[in-house]
Amino acid sequence: MIKLFCYRVVILLIVLLTLTIILYQIPFKNVETNTEPLIDFVIGVSQPNLHEPWQVLMNEELRAEEAKHDNIRVIYADAAQSTKQQIMDINMLNKYGIDLLIVSVEDSSALTPVISAIYKKIPVIVLGRGVEGYNYTLYIGSDHHFIGEMAAEVAIDLLGDEGGKVIEVKGMASASKAEERSKGFREKISENSNIEIIDSIAANWQRDKAEDELTVLLKRMNQRPDLIYAHNDAMALGSYRAVQSLGLEGIKIIGSDGVTNPKGGLQLVNEGIIDTTFITPTGGKQAFQYAVDILEKRSEIPKKVILRNHKVSEKDNIDQYLNQKSNISGKRRRENELTLGFAQVGSESAWRNEHTASVINAAEQLSVNLIFKNADNDQQKQIKIIREFINQEVDVIAFSPKVENGWEEVLKEAKDAGIPVILSDREIDVNDSTLWTSFIGSDFVEEGRRAGRWLINEMDKAALKDVNIIELEGTKNSAPAVGRKQGFEEVLSNYPNYQIIDNLLGDFTLSKGRELMEQALDDHGNKIDIVYAHNDDMAIGAIEAIEDYGLKPGRDIKIISIDATIKAFNALSTGKLNFTVECNPLLGPQIMQAAKELHAGKEVPMKIITSEETFTQEEAKKEMKKRNY
Ligand code: AHR
Repeated sequence: MIKLFCYRVVILLIVLLTLTIILYQIPFKNVETNTEPLIDFVIGVSQPNLHEPWQVLMNEELRAEEAKHDNIRVIYADAAQSTKQQIMDINMLNKYGIDLLIVSVEDSSALTPVISAIYKKIPVIVLGRGVEGYNYTLYIGSDHHFIGEMAAEVAIDLLGDEGGKVIEVKGMASASKAEERSKGFREKISENSNIEIIDSIAANWQRDKAEDELTVLLKRMNQRPDLIYAHNDAMALGSYRAVQSLGLEGIKIIGSDGVTNPKGGLQLVNEGIIDTTFITPTGGKQAFQYAVDILEKRSEIPKKVILRNHKVSEKDNIDQYLNQKSNISGKRRRENELTLGFAQVGSESAWRNEHTASVINAAEQLSVNLIFKNADNDQQKQIKIIREFINQEVDVIAFSPKVENGWEEVLKEAKDAGIPVILSDREIDVNDSTLWTSFIGSDFVEEGRRAGRWLINEMDKAALKDVNIIELEGTKNSAPAVGRKQGFEEVLSNYPNYQIIDNLLGDFTLSKGRELMEQALDDHGNKIDIVYAHNDDMAIGAIEAIEDYGLKPGRDIKIISIDATIKAFNALSTGKLNFTVECNPLLGPQIMQAAKELHAGKEVPMKIITSEETFTQEEAKKEMKKRNY
C-alpha cells in the first residue's frame, strides 16, 4: 500500500516537473532541443467558448494556419462562456510571456479595459467580436450593423406587403456584436410601418437558452410572431425547437453565421429549418496570417479588416454555397496579366498627389498593368472613365469616388460585365453593397472624433469659457467631408460652450481654404478661437489668410487639420498649426494586393481600414524626420 502511494507521488512529481519545464520554456525564444524546432514566437489565443460552432470553426482555422509555422507556438484558452474566466485566461497568458494575443471577446464592455492594458505591452488582435475604442493593434471581423440591416431586408422580403410581427433573439446583452446587429436590424425595420418588433430576449448565443426562454415568452404572449430574427444560427435552431414544441406553424426564422458543419447554418437552411443565414467568416485564418506579419514586422498592418458576409437562403443559392465551400467569392480565376483601371478623383491636395504616386509606384513594383486616368474633380468625367474601363474589359476597376452618391448605374454596368470594383479612400452610399467588392481607406468619422477630442482637452487646459469654431469643410457630399464633420460634431455635442459659428463649404484645395477664411474673418474677425479644416491644404490657406488679417495663426486662432502631410508638419514646427490627424495616402500596395487576389478568384475583405495617428506640435518634431510626403 505504502509502496503504491510512493509510486503515485513519484509519478505526480515527474508530471509536475515536466509541466513546469514546458511552461518555463514557452516564454523564452529560441529554445533549442534536438527534436524540437526553434520557437521564435508564442501566441496566446483567448476564446470566449468552444461551444458555439462558429467559435469552433474559428479555432480550427487558427490551428490550420498554426500548422504551417514550426517556429510559432500557440497557447489556446477556452473561457467556457465565463467573462471572469476569460479575464483570468488573458492575464495568465500574459504572465506566460506571450508575444501576441489573439482574442475573441465574450463581453465587450468588461473586456475593453483588460485588452487596453495588454495592448500597452504586446500587439493584440481582436477577432470576430469587437471591443470599445481603438486600444488594440488590429480588429478582424464583420460589420455587425450591416448584418443586422441585411437581416431586416430579408425580413421585409419574407413578410411581403402584409408585413407582420417579429421577435428578436439577441446574443449577449453586453456584446457590441449583438448591439450592432440589433441596431442595424431595428433601424431598417423602422422604415417599414407594417412590421412590428413585438418583443426580444437575450439568449447569450446559446441554442438551449434560446429554446427555453422563447418557449416561456411564447406561452406568456397573447399574440404570435410571424418571424424570428436570431443573432446566430445556434439560437435560430433553439427558436425552431421552441416553435415546434408549441405546435406553431408558418413562422419564418432568420439566423446568422452560415457554418458548414452538421449543425451549422447552411445545413439548417438546406433542411428548411431556418429560412436564411448569413455566412459570417470567423477571420481565424486572416488573424493568424496578420499575427505572423506583425511579429515578423513585415508589412503595414491595417487597423480594421472587415470581412464580407453572404446571404444564403433555400430558394436562392443554398446549392451554390454547399458545393463551393472553398471559393465563396464565386469569381472566375483569370489567367491573363492583371490590368487595373484606376479613376483618380483629381489633384486637389498634397495628400491626393501622394496617393496618386503610391498607386503608380505600387503597380510598377507589383507588375500590374495600370491604366491611370484623372477625373479632375468632375463626377461625370469619373463615370465616363469607369465606362471606358468597362469597354476596355479591364480585370479590376479602382476609383476614389468624388462624392458618396450617384454611382448605381455605372457600377451595375461593371457588375454585369463581371468586373470587380475597389473603392479607394472614399466610401459610397448605394443600396446594393455587392456593387463594389472592397473598400481600402480611413475611418473618417474617427478622424473627426480625434480632432474634437484634442480640442476639448486642449481648451479645458486653457480654461476658456465659450469657444467659437470655424469649420472649413471638404467637397460637399464627399465621404471625408461627411465623416469628419460627423465625428467632430459627435464629440462637441457633449460640450455646449463649443460653438461652430460657421461651416464653410470648400473643396480640399489651398486656394479655397484661403478664400473661405478671408470670408470668415470678414464676418467674425476677432471672435474666432478655432479653425477646424478638413484637410492640410485648406488649413494652410487659412493660415495665410489669418496672417494677412494681422493675427497670429496657432496663437490668436488655433488650427486643427487632417491628413498630416509634410505641409502640416512644417506648419506645426513653426507653431502656426496646433494639431493634425493622420489620414494615410499610401494605399497603392494594398490596392494592388487586393486586385491581384480578385484576379486570382479569391475573396478579399469588404473593408480594410488603415492604421493612423495624431500629432501635436511636440510629437511632430520626432515624426517629421520620417515623413517624406
Ligand atoms: O479622401 C481623402 C481626402 O481627399 C484627403 O484627406 C484630402 O486631402 C483629399 O483630397
